[in-house]
Amino acid sequence: LDVLSVASEFFPLVKTGGLGDVTGALPAALAPQGVRVRTVLPGYPSVMNALKWAHYEQEKIEIQELGHTVHIIQASIEHNYFFIIDCPELYLRSGSPYTAGNGKSWDDNGLRFALLSRVAARLACGLVADYQPDLVLAHDWPAGLTAAYLHFTPGMTPPVVQTIHNIAFQGRFGADQLSSFELPVEGFSQNGFEFHGDIGFLKAGLYYARWLIAVSPNYAEEIQTAEFGMGLEGLLHSRSANLSGILNGVDTDVWNPETDPDIHFPYKPGNVWTRRSNKAAFQAEFGLAQNPDALLIGVVSRLTDQKGIDLLAEAMPVLMRQNYALQCVVVGGGELHIERQLGHLARRFPGRFACTLRYSESLGHRAQASADVIFVPSRFEPCGLTQLYAMRYGAVPVVSKVGGLADTIIDANAAALSAGCATGFVFSPNDATAIINVMQRVYKVFCDKALWTLLQRNGAQQDVSWQRPAALYGALFKRLVPSHHSNQA
Ligand code: ADP
Ligand code: GLC
Repeated sequence: LDVLSVASEFFPLVKTGGLGDVTGALPAALAPQGVRVRTVLPGYPSVMNALKWAHYEQEKIEIQELGHTVHIIQASIEHNYFFIIDCPELYLRSGSPYTAGNGKSWDDNGLRFALLSRVAARLACGLVADYQPDLVLAHDWPAGLTAAYLHFTPGMTPPVVQTIHNIAFQGRFGADQLSSFELPVEGFSQNGFEFHGDIGFLKAGLYYARWLIAVSPNYAEEIQTAEFGMGLEGLLHSRSANLSGILNGVDTDVWNPETDPDIHFPYKPGNVWTRRSNKAAFQAEFGLAQNPDALLIGVVSRLTDQKGIDLLAEAMPVLMRQNYALQCVVVGGGELHIERQLGHLARRFPGRFACTLRYSESLGHRAQASADVIFVPSRFEPCGLTQLYAMRYGAVPVVSKVGGLADTIIDANAAALSAGCATGFVFSPNDATAIINVMQRVYKVFCDKALWTLLQRNGAQQDVSWQRPAALYGALFKRLVPSHHSNQA
């Protein structure tokens, strides 16, 4: 079964968060299910650079789309197959896929990602000789228009599955751009891609796709409520019969403490002793006191309202005054007001609080291998990957009770501890007071070395790989492409 994955990120070529991790891991994860994935990806600078090491499948194809001359490059890079959209005036810019260096969204993001979806729709309809996907998998708002373009394409088209990684990013653009996106006016209604008078890219995907996947079962329920649905709850509720929640997995080759090139002292998952050396090295790297008994909290996160790091920062002065040794390292970048809050804490608590306010993949890995706790106080969290990496690396996740965090971590309450199945700490509601309280619970268990080791080992024993979720994806795809199913039977 051939799947065309439509993505704005793909690790290791381009990543701003978990979306890149997931799109990058899916092709290898789905291969054992008999699913071959090719990914259509914009030709950002890092992607065009990677083509230097690519193996080329075919000649470039030149097409005209949405007023631009576009070359489609078919290439395989490190065993993954791509259709790269080469359109320098739209994609060859420094900055993130979505923003300029100053963090401001590109003014023409509507056009940039309409083009991604438009090219995907063309590929789905046989643009390239010898390639006909059975199904299209569109990720988040940047790929949201794919289902709309295919809906308005005459004839048979492959089914679209729209994945919801994060409903907070909706891709809304002014109705005056209908004609530049070449969208038909008849779709501009509530029963279509219109969303509060704008063109809604994610709304389009949610409305027109054959099936919807949310990245955890709990998030699939949450987004049908006003609290988490961000205005799309009604539509999602009406589509609940065609909405699945499938947890993300972890790329266990990339996230393997035994072979991780970014960490100083490699260790087998479950070996809690070597972590001590990593902790000492990490404390030194951040200028913290090399105290093995200090409880070292690690955070690896985008710094946005979603992630609740401002709440942790609010709790920090009180936590630092408690009569126990506590240290904290934040590896994160994003909104200026949160970065300022963290910078202020670093100045106020030198040797105990440190932060690196930028994106650093290697620090992210070292934090997982070194911190005692990985702290995730999200206000909402569709799936969350850092708590899964934490379990694999023997750090204990401390998470708020939302979305995929609640689905993946078993709280160390008295019952779970005596049953021996706890994997971390789950707190609710999410505010500074609850954070202060949960940290007292955490510290108590941290001081009981046998109990703490049990938590670490339980985490390491969880199957966070792609194996289970990939089987669910495979089964769903085969249900949606019955001809393939009967061919196989
Ligand atoms: P989200 O996709 O909402 O950002 P996830 O937990 O799903 O949240 O995924 C975040 C991914 O991005 C993880 O791989 C995490 O390690 C990484 N990450 C986030 N911020 C940073 C940072 N500043 N430096 C390195 N890695 C980061
Ligand atoms: C999003 C979500 C995160 C999820 C990731 C991958 O960015 O915020 O919770 O893990 O996508 O699906």
